[in-house]
Amino acid sequence: MTIDQKFNTSIMQMNNVRKRLHEQLRKRQENRSLRTLDLRKTLIDFSSNDYLGLSSNEQLLSSIKEVYAATECSLGATGSRLLTGNSQQHLELESNLAEFFQAPAALLFNSGYTANLALISTVPQRGDTILYDQAIHACIKEGARLSQANYHSFKHNDPGDLHQKLKRCSGNKFVVVESLYSMEGDAPPIREFIALCRQFEAELFIDEAHTTGWAGSEGKGWVIGQQLSQEFLARVYTFGKGLGTHGACIVGSKELIDYLINFARPFIYTTALPPHSVISINCALEYLKNLDSPGMMLKEKINYYLEEAEKIPVERSLNKDSPIQWIMVPGNINALVFSEYLQKKGFDVRPILSPTVPEGKERLRVCIHSFNTKEEILNLVSAISKMP
Ligand SMILES: Cc1ncc(COP(=O)(O)O)c(C=O)c1O
Repeated sequence: MTIDQKFNTSIMQMNNVRKRLHEQLRKRQENRSLRTLDLRKTLIDFSSNDYLGLSSNEQLLSSIKEVYAATECSLGATGSRLLTGNSQQHLELESNLAEFFQAPAALLFNSGYTANLALISTVPQRGDTILYDQAIHACIKEGARLSQANYHSFKHNDPGDLHQKLKRCSGNKFVVVESLYSMEGDAPPIREFIALCRQFEAELFIDEAHTTGWAGSEGKGWVIGQQLSQEFLARVYTFGKGLGTHGACIVGSKELIDYLINFARPFIYTTALPPHSVISINCALEYLKNLDSPGMMLKEKINYYLEEAEKIPVERSLNKDSPIQWIMVPGNINALVFSEYLQKKGFDVRPILSPTVPEGKERLRVCIHSFNTKEEILNLVSAISKMP
């Protein structure tokens, strides 16, 4: 009897916990929202976060191999940064990141998820209030839950609602936004938010996960591009998307970074990034620095998509300067059927189902990359427009 068969035949004898797991998975299967781990298909990529194609850039890959071969280092970091896991490579990368992202200091994290978790759960404290955008990423909500502070959401990109919430909240105030929302693909009305934060003496945090490496003229991200970096107590940059590698950093004042080193449990109690990751991130950063305008080609392709997408007869995003676009297809089943249809035509376009988005707001997410050809974009739009 296989493990699966044993599992199924023993449902009758299950205790409450096992029955609950079984029941919750069964419900997901029933409403077609069961998540599974599929292998990546060899389709035209309109889905990944690899906005600049760096994850498979041959020049970058050979420079990583070259540096790795020439560096004396262990395979794993062997411990937390505070014990045996620190190295000259980690420190040099942090110094390069601080310089690149125009901040006094930077601190590496194993992922964007843990960076946000660390920041949001550690800096706001008991009696303080965290206000985050309704569309904020799960790791920021998780950080707020882990913190001792009070927390509330405000309506997506709505300064009026943020104003109301700021008026009512107590203690030190923290406002958390993303530079580009991962599902909506839009940016916050940041100047209005900054004005409100100044008025209410609130601190601002920004997650630049989807703008790292391509936004701004030198790929330094969205707020540097707008010369607003001084307005934020902390900024989070991730390397698994535009930089094609993995990991993340928080940048801010030297004191903020020292504080995180001392108090942020997701930084303290984990094995540090391994040397090969540190080398990869550093090489990706160097690669980026040598490009004239890393986001230029991507922006051209976004503009081309937006021009062509006018032909699409259903509700869709109009996100200017954003590689994240969507086509509204309400209902999990409809979104699944539509994405399967596009996949059969050769396009890797994924559905975003509820509960990831609210019920009725299910959609197809279309990610544009610098390496998508105009022909591919044209064919995709044509397939979407002819959807049965
Ligand atoms: C807005 C945002 N923040 C943080 C993360 C997490 O980053 P990472 O994948 O490096 O853990 C993601 C990843 O999907 C994201 O979309």
